[in-house]
Amino acid sequence: MTKGDDGSVSSWTSPEEQQFFAELRAQHTLFVFGRKTYEAVLPPFVPGVLKVVLTTNPNEFSSSQKKGLLEFHNLSAKEFVKKYENKYDTCLILGGSRVNSDFLEAGLVDEIYLTVEPVTHGSGVPLLARGSLNDYDLPEPEVTALNSQGTQLLHYILKK
Ligand SMILES: NC(=O)c1ccc[n+]([C@@H]2O[C@H](COP(=O)([O-])OP(=O)(O)OC[C@H]3O[C@@H](n4cnc5c(N)ncnc54)[C@H](OP(=O)(O)O)[C@@H]3O)[C@@H](O)[C@H]2O)c1
Repeated sequence: MTKGDDGSVSSWTSPEEQQFFAELRAQHTLFVFGRKTYEAVLPPFVPGVLKVVLTTNPNEFSSSQKKGLLEFHNLSAKEFVKKYENKYDTCLILGGSRVNSDFLEAGLVDEIYLTVEPVTHGSGVPLLARGSLNDYDLPEPEVTALNSQGTQLLHYILKK
């Protein structure tokens, strides 16, 4: 999921994956991600889109907070869903590893989009903080070739 100590992913992901991800983002108005992903990306404010950063120290980020656009909360995956499920139909979970593991383990993931790029890093941050996708009884993914270089998009539908 990352390359070595480099938190940026745009240097090694394909243009086709970046285009796909931009289109997926555009379909959502609620995003959740961990504090380290926030610090790696520092996402822009987008009108009408709420980005929630999970952290055990939300007070540290009070000067970055913008109500309705960027909020910092100390919530478990279940508490997060309880807080937002009445206002939003869907949420895009953007990682990193701990957030991915927490939401999967809590049974709160309906779909997974996983892009496999034909590159090896040797070290970096993994997809999950605990275990691997093989630990979950996932259905066969729908596989789409995003380009002729070998980039593949795997789409798992866990719940309809
Ligand atoms: N390739 C990709 O598509 C992709 C996607 C996402 C991220 N990434 C990369 O992954 C790296 C970050 O991943 P990571 O796994 O190291 O960290 P992370 O999951 O982004 O952040 C972990 C931090 O989030 C906070 N947190 C998570 N769950 C929480 C909860 N339930 N309640 C309270 N706080 C919670 C804690 O922050 P505090 O320590 O502040 O309490 C924790 O230390 C970055 O380099 C990012 O660029 C890559």
